[in-house]
Amino acid sequence: MSAEINRRWLIAARPIGRAVAESDFTLDSQPVVAPAEGEVLLRTRMFGFDPSQKAWMSNMAPYTQPVEIGGVMLGRGIAEVIESRSPAFAPGDRVRGYLGWQEYPVVQAGKLEKLPDEVPDGLALGLWGSTGRTAYFGLLHVGCPKPGDVLVVSGAAGAVGSVVGQLGKLSGCRVIGIAGGPEKCRRLVEELGFDAAIDYKAEDVGARLRALCSSGIDIYFDNVGGPLLETALNQITFGARIVICGGISTYSMDLRSPENIPPGPRNYLIITTKGASILGFLVHQFAEHNATASARLLRWWQEGKLKQLEDVQQGFENAPRTFMRLFEGRNFGKQLLRVGE
Ligand SMILES: NC(=O)c1ccc[n+]([C@@H]2O[C@H](COP(=O)([O-])OP(=O)(O)OC[C@H]3O[C@@H](n4cnc5c(N)ncnc54)[C@H](OP(=O)(O)O)[C@@H]3O)[C@@H](O)[C@H]2O)c1
Repeated sequence: MSAEINRRWLIAARPIGRAVAESDFTLDSQPVVAPAEGEVLLRTRMFGFDPSQKAWMSNMAPYTQPVEIGGVMLGRGIAEVIESRSPAFAPGDRVRGYLGWQEYPVVQAGKLEKLPDEVPDGLALGLWGSTGRTAYFGLLHVGCPKPGDVLVVSGAAGAVGSVVGQLGKLSGCRVIGIAGGPEKCRRLVEELGFDAAIDYKAEDVGARLRALCSSGIDIYFDNVGGPLLETALNQITFGARIVICGGISTYSMDLRSPENIPPGPRNYLIITTKGASILGFLVHQFAEHNATASARLLRWWQEGKLKQLEDVQQGFENAPRTFMRLFEGRNFGKQLLRVGE
């Protein structure tokens, strides 16, 4: 074991009611810790980023353990085993797990998964990870697409949205993405085969939806919430399915007190008049189907039917800045950070 220092990013402040900032984190250095019985010492290779990490650092995610100020920032990543005190792992194995933002984490063996050789690091955190499964379950189990359906997805150039749109095409849907900026919209159509894309920052989304989906939206897959949800509801068809995956437009609001919570869509009664359904979900709800979903996502990727879009930044010291890219709309596809060489 040559490394002696483990650099870590700690939480210094909670970004509640505002955007996440670099000053919310502190970099520290500690001696590398030797693994105890049943533990594994790892060298981090790559981190994956997800907007829900902001809820973790704000202690507002109801489905995860609280993170204290001064604690290591939670995060998923890929690492290589350096030293193992578990028969399940050997030095050199590549693993996936909750490593926290640190270079040499020590993790209980039972919380790690060994990665197959055919799955690259980025894929294991994106299409073949919980990102891909979120898109898979949200669209295929909740949205229930049928050939000929019109599918509209917000946050379409992001990690989940870009997979949802591609799965929609595989399901025979006509797919329209909503994303920020002309370059993202161009790439959705040209690289991922979306039928059309709307730049919500520059275009009148309502007018564009009326023009593009004159017969109505059958599935609205929502990653964003806020005014875009209301705009999309105005265009739904009879029996439409509205899938609430996330609501990133609200993630910088202080939602702890009811008076700060924005009112729901003013036009919600359209759900009644259109006999529509609006359903939220968490990827963990479908855990019993993980193996099937992962196998199918991998096969489709290997067959060239699905593309993994990724935005790879470099350097452990850039972890906070890379995380902030999600909220600045700077990522196209899965936001990743390569750590070390
Ligand atoms: N239900 C579940 O189990 C589950 C699991 C994982 C993720 N999620 C949710 O899925 C959504 C997508 O996650 P992801 O990992 O794929 O992130 P992502 O879409 O790759 O990254 C965030 C993107 O959101 C857009 N954005 C940021 N601020 C915005 C705002 N104020 N208004 C509108 N768009 C904004 C930006 O794209 P533009 O440039 O296009 O604005 C940005 O690139 C999130 O809401 C997340 O919480 C849900």
